Amino acid sequence: MTDSRINAIKNFVRAGSRVADIGADHGYLSIELATSGLATKIIATEKNIHPFEALSKNISGFKQIEARLGDGLKILSAGEVDTICIAGMGGALIEKILSESPEVVNSARQLILQPMNGAKKIRTWLAESDFEISDEDLAESGGIIYEILCAEKNPIKKTFKREKSPLLWKFLNQRLEKLKKVRNEMEKSSTAINSEKYSALQAEIDALDKNHSCHSNSISPI
Ligand SMILES: C[S@@+](CC[C@H](N)C(=O)[O-])C[C@H]1O[C@@H](n2cnc3c(N)ncnc32)[C@H](O)[C@@H]1O
Repeated sequence: MTDSRINAIKNFVRAGSRVADIGADHGYLSIELATSGLATKIIATEKNIHPFEALSKNISGFKQIEARLGDGLKILSAGEVDTICIAGMGGALIEKILSESPEVVNSARQLILQPMNGAKKIRTWLAESDFEISDEDLAESGGIIYEILCAEKNPIKKTFKREKSPLLWKFLNQRLEKLKKVRNEMEKSSTAINSEKYSALQAEIDALDKNHSCHSNSISPI
């Protein structure tokens, strides 16, 4: 059975797309995109030689998938793909990869991003880009809830999958607990308490607490 995280990422890909799977590692997403028939062409990339070797082995037999060795989007040309997937990395690294290759990014129609942490960095980057978040989802795998962001240019407004996800309340409660633990640690230092980071953290906790007490499912993405 396909991993629910990989499945949720795949479900955002539009049929007939040419897709880049950046930091493909084992290549599970690329293979899923090939076997589902959703993508007509997949460029699966890896920066590191060991995962690249495993990737090359795993994708042999899938003629739609091409493996490339190199850093981020630097090994793609503008216009080569419609969709860029970057999954399983920290938000800061995803942001760096996107920022370093503006021509490739701007030539794509869709970005599908699954940060392991630091989703806020990606949200901020997207808010300043030509892309807009068009949908979001949550997926649970191995006891962890993952956030998946889909961004497009001039998207059609609709309710995000995330808002209807049965994982939403569990995810927000876990996030609230995590933020409260960080706040407790910060409160041990007067410098930390007076920092911008503390104010932002407190604002996020307040927003989550408010949503929690409203028992509403129409929550703004955190
Ligand atoms: C944790 S794995 C995620 C694999 C897969 N994308 C997934 O979501 O299951 C992250 C992979 O990204 C690769 N990676 C890290 N930085 C990269 C970069 N700048 N360009 C391409 N690949 C990178 C690592 O070698 C590693 O295999």
